[in-house]
Amino acid sequence: MPTNLLSVENVSASYSSKPVLQEISMKVDPGEIVLLIGHNGAGKSTLLKVIFGDLRINKGKIAYLGNEISNLPIYKRREIGMAYLPQSNNIFSDLNVYDNLKVSGNGLHSLELSQRIEETYDIFPVLKNMRRKRSGLLSGGERQMLAMGMLLLIRPRLLLLDEPSAGLSPTLVIEIMQKIVKINKAYGTAILLVEQKVAEALKIATRCYLLKNGQVSFVGKPEEVRETLSRTLVRTQK
Ligand SMILES: Nc1ncnc2c1ncn2[C@@H]1O[C@H](COP(=O)(O)OP(=O)(O)OP(=O)(O)O)[C@@H](O)[C@H]1O
Ligand SMILES: [Mg+2]
Repeated sequence: MPTNLLSVENVSASYSSKPVLQEISMKVDPGEIVLLIGHNGAGKSTLLKVIFGDLRINKGKIAYLGNEISNLPIYKRREIGMAYLPQSNNIFSDLNVYDNLKVSGNGLHSLELSQRIEETYDIFPVLKNMRRKRSGLLSGGERQMLAMGMLLLIRPRLLLLDEPSAGLSPTLVIEIMQKIVKINKAYGTAILLVEQKVAEALKIATRCYLLKNGQVSFVGKPEEVRETLSRTLVRTQK
């Protein structure tokens, strides 16, 4: 049986004494775009945090390419190909666009860095036009593209994205979704995507998990999730 890229097995986690995640099991296979949805406070961001090592788990196991990583520090998770886009504070506002990309590719040989920055500009042409602009002056959409571009520079195998389209106009939401597909196709990057823009995100997802009160309440293909959500909606309207 092929190894999962990421596997979360019966994981529980809490903030001090407040339990948030309870016995969560989920997986991401190579090349997948997996969507994670749920109400505010369901535990979506917390799940991304524990996968990236930003919060310790109390119980269960997290494995990456078949190896347990439950206690691996963040910098080691980065080294093995994981990258995380937090919900906020994901760029250096005082630096210009180019310098943000440069900092992110710190450690790469200068020739490789220039090539990768050019490739990033191919995916996000807006960044090339704004390369000398201070990042704090970018619009919400430009900021998210820069944040994703920065993560791309290290060619992650698994990209954890926490609401990349938050606060963006409907047109930009579609654009961000298209960029995610482009990254996925261009580099084979597997993506675990947390989104509130469910209809748009379901169009690009291969599978979807629905979280409810820190537990997985449903897992399925986009069409199955659409059906489940519309049934729930009809029930609550009655
Ligand atoms: N740093 C923290 N300390 C204590 N409790 C927290 C902390 N961060 C989140 N929580 C709580 O944990 C629960 C899950 O929060 P989380 O941020 O994972 O939800 P979410 O599904 O990402 O919600 P949203 O859609 O609003 O982003 C919530 O009840 C929240 O109040
Ligand atoms: Mg969140």
